[in-house]
Amino acid sequence: MSPRVINFGLIGGGMMGREFASAAARWCHLSGLDFAPRLTAVCSAHESSLNWFRQNVPDLQLATTDYRQLLARQDIEAVYCAVPHQLHASIYIDTLQAGKHLLGEKPFGIDLAANQAILQACAQFPQLLVRCASQFAFYPAAYRIAQWLREGRFGRIFSVEVGFLHSSDLNPQKPINWKRQSATCGEYGVMGDLGMHVLYLPFRFAWQPANVRALLSKVITERPGPGGQMTPCDTWDNAVLACAVNDFPMLVVTRRIAPGHSNTWYLRVEGTALSAEYSTQHTKLLRYLPYTPGGPQEWHTLEMPYQSAYATISGGIFEFGFSDALLQMWAAFCDELVHGREAMLQPLYCATPEESHLSHRLFTAALQSQKTGETVNLL
Ligand SMILES: NC(=O)c1ccc[n+]([C@@H]2O[C@H](COP(=O)([O-])OP(=O)(O)OC[C@H]3O[C@@H](n4cnc5c(N)ncnc54)[C@H](O)[C@@H]3O)[C@@H](O)[C@H]2O)c1
Repeated sequence: MSPRVINFGLIGGGMMGREFASAAARWCHLSGLDFAPRLTAVCSAHESSLNWFRQNVPDLQLATTDYRQLLARQDIEAVYCAVPHQLHASIYIDTLQAGKHLLGEKPFGIDLAANQAILQACAQFPQLLVRCASQFAFYPAAYRIAQWLREGRFGRIFSVEVGFLHSSDLNPQKPINWKRQSATCGEYGVMGDLGMHVLYLPFRFAWQPANVRALLSKVITERPGPGGQMTPCDTWDNAVLACAVNDFPMLVVTRRIAPGHSNTWYLRVEGTALSAEYSTQHTKLLRYLPYTPGGPQEWHTLEMPYQSAYATISGGIFEFGFSDALLQMWAAFCDELVHGREAMLQPLYCATPEESHLSHRLFTAALQSQKTGETVNLL
């Protein structure tokens, strides 16, 4: 049987837009799916950024600098949107009003008000599937931890740590870009950039912070601009959020300046019956410690085979990477669009607008905590 084809439009032809197009181009990597996306239209702000898509996307019928042209096309069913944060609310809302399903990028609005406006639009169009991109939970080891959480294997959880670490900003000569300026990235700074990735699984398992004490830092305060002149870099570089969740602490760490790290996403869960940790720094390595009262406390290490949420042509002897995680996340979006959440081929659905809203409430409270030096209540 031929797969159900979903015609996609892409708004935002930058780094993530190209990743997305590349994932579509290797859909054949996934096996046994009864659905497939087809990227037929792309919109980007600059004409020059469209050329890569013209050269590399065989089914492309429209390449435009006006996203309204893309949204006007009847044949486009769903949109992936990866644009600077100050544009999320207007473009996401226009996408929904045009009747398209939406996979939008985090943080899903530049601030709490923008996020609320997006959620209001979602409520007006309940027939549309709206999800927030976040792919790290699809790494096989992270996915396995999520499976153990669903199965309730941790016993009573007494500590959670999640984090996401980058380091290229340690270089003061790294030029400024929109992600380093509050007007385009948002006052949240690094939290808005990296936070949803680490909060996706905690929110999925209802670890909702009751309060937060935040320590935010700005390390590099100006960077070279387009002409070489120094330009203010006014976003938070690093954030440490100490949260109280139910009766256990959850530490949420997002850092642009964590020396030596390149895209290190990690999760550590400690429970009375099982503890487990995973970091993309060691991409195959899952560590876990099962425990029975009085028994030994021995960490086990498992070199995770290539066992993904959706089956692929890769053999289990190979290892999994960033672009594989994106492909899996996109499969989850298409799976939910075609089959509905209850009938998905596997249980991990993409992050929801409501989960993005929880992240906005947390980041807004964190900004307040940083200002006052106090713990801020969320519930
Ligand atoms: N999922 C992830 O791992 C991940 C990684 C990086 C960034 N992101 C998110 O993806 C989004 C985009 O980030 P990026 O790194 O791709 O940025 P980028 O700067 O590389 O690309 C942004 C693109 O948006 C385009 N654009 C700007 N205004 C536009 C408009 N009005 N209409 C159409 N296109 C417009 C620009 O031309 C540019 O090509 C952000 O929300 C960011 O937080 C996600």
